[in-house]
Amino acid sequence: MSTDTRAAAPEVRISGIDPHWWRQAAVYQIYPRSFADADGNGIGDLQGIITRVPYLAQLGIDAVWLSPFYPSALADGGYDVDDYRDVDPKIGTLEEFDQMVAALHAEGIRVVVDIVPNHSSDRHEWFRQALAAEPSSPERERYIFRDGTGPEGAEPPTDWTSIFGGPAWTRVPDGQWYLHLFAPEQPDFNWANPEVRADFLKTLRFWSDRGVDGFRIDVAHALTKDLTDPLPSEAELDAIPRDAGQHPIWDRDEVHEIYAEWRRVFDSYDPPRTAVAEAWVERHRRPRYASAEGLGQAFEFDLLTQEFDAAAFKDVVVDSLSLAAESGSSSTWVLSNHDVVRHATRYGLPPLPETVGTTEQDRKQGAAWVLAGAPEDQLDREKGQRRARAATLFELALPGSAYLYQGEELGLHEVGDIPDEARQDPTFFRSPGVDKGRDGCRVPLPWSSTGPTFGFGSSSAHLPQPQWFADYAVEAQEGVDGSTLEMYRAALHLRRELQTDETLEWIETGRDDVLAFRRPGGWVTVTNFGEDDAALPSGEVLLASSPLVGGRLPGATTVWLRESQS
Ligand code: NOJ
Repeated sequence: MSTDTRAAAPEVRISGIDPHWWRQAAVYQIYPRSFADADGNGIGDLQGIITRVPYLAQLGIDAVWLSPFYPSALADGGYDVDDYRDVDPKIGTLEEFDQMVAALHAEGIRVVVDIVPNHSSDRHEWFRQALAAEPSSPERERYIFRDGTGPEGAEPPTDWTSIFGGPAWTRVPDGQWYLHLFAPEQPDFNWANPEVRADFLKTLRFWSDRGVDGFRIDVAHALTKDLTDPLPSEAELDAIPRDAGQHPIWDRDEVHEIYAEWRRVFDSYDPPRTAVAEAWVERHRRPRYASAEGLGQAFEFDLLTQEFDAAAFKDVVVDSLSLAAESGSSSTWVLSNHDVVRHATRYGLPPLPETVGTTEQDRKQGAAWVLAGAPEDQLDREKGQRRARAATLFELALPGSAYLYQGEELGLHEVGDIPDEARQDPTFFRSPGVDKGRDGCRVPLPWSSTGPTFGFGSSSAHLPQPQWFADYAVEAQEGVDGSTLEMYRAALHLRRELQTDETLEWIETGRDDVLAFRRPGGWVTVTNFGEDDAALPSGEVLLASSPLVGGRLPGATTVWLRESQS
């Protein structure tokens, strides 16, 4: 397949002290345990990342975001942290972390690390101390412990269900219960305790001092909680609106006091450290997380829950840009991450009947397809990949920063048919029959087309890789005109040259299924979400997600043009 591409633009290195580097950055998410395994133990590691720095530089990204690499029993893929100021020995050492940062910085690539402040792991030193201590002791006050209800307190304090399924309270040997919004191995911190606040400030400084440029904040909207008695039942909790900052658990106004304090730490560095909030909140509540007095940026997840549809994409973009303007921050765009079915697969599935899946979002994300055993006859791989490429070029042309997930540059599909005995995700174990979990987008990357782990490591991979990975490997795509990898490389390099002001002007196309917009400097993007080919405005073709046909834009294709000067 041949695609219109231009020679890669000359590199524009971000200035070492540019305080706004993040505003329109392309940030590449690395899930460290599945990226590259240098020591051959089946788990990706920091040395593996170091060996792939040339690949990352060639890709043309501005920053990497590392999902947790801290010591962890992996009850939730590393989002169960034993020690916030260390590296898991199975992944590397602090010295290797420093080497990795230096190697990335030498290529002009910034480093963002994940901070998980809502909960630690149950192996964290503080939680061990809490278990060893008495009820109401200072050790227990770092977490959320309560007496139970019913005879001898044998019933949990409330009937709340955790996000991963099952009860949100677990009993400890002396009869008390602790709260975990996620898995039992993830006890929630008590953010009313100044000791907890001080310790996270220490963690932020620890990594900032080691040269980390920014932070991704996990479940940023849950830290502060109002757990005054009597606690509501689950039904009562669900009935409390989440749009006014007063819900007992989610998105409380006072959480922003914490981020104002963090901001003072970020701003004490030169350039200031950045942060992006993972906050699943009502749309009008997002700007506060993204404000310059707070974390500075917040994820916009609405694009990743949409079908491949012109009207849906346009609505999200218009809305997100207005929210960004309200906050003074830039927009963020996400099509895939470590929690959702990969977008190449989502776009290749037929729309599912309303009755399938637990929520509308599940259906859109392909979770129902995974749950159904990933039937191959339902997935049109070619269509999904073609649409994914079009959606990616649309995304990369938008003002703001794009968060890319490892493997999407290879056009990787979800691995939908992981055998149950190989699954790792707690959502699978805690919600039997309802959710297969998120392992399918976390399968170790294929670097080469042959070998026991497709070049991921030397012997094994911690999740099984399918045979079809061979066709998607870096080796199979490198230097191949029109491959998805080469399209990403060309797009990311061109983008650096083309990005200017954070503005966008929509262009009337005369078709409901074709979107077009202009960025300053005459950079025009046209996406055909439909099936019938479409006319193109005049201009020099810079890049297309699929070949143009007779000078027209085929279905499921995006083109970047440089407008002709009139
Ligand atoms: C959000 C993370 O993205 C997800 O992977 C994790 O399971 C939960 N937060 C809990 O930490």
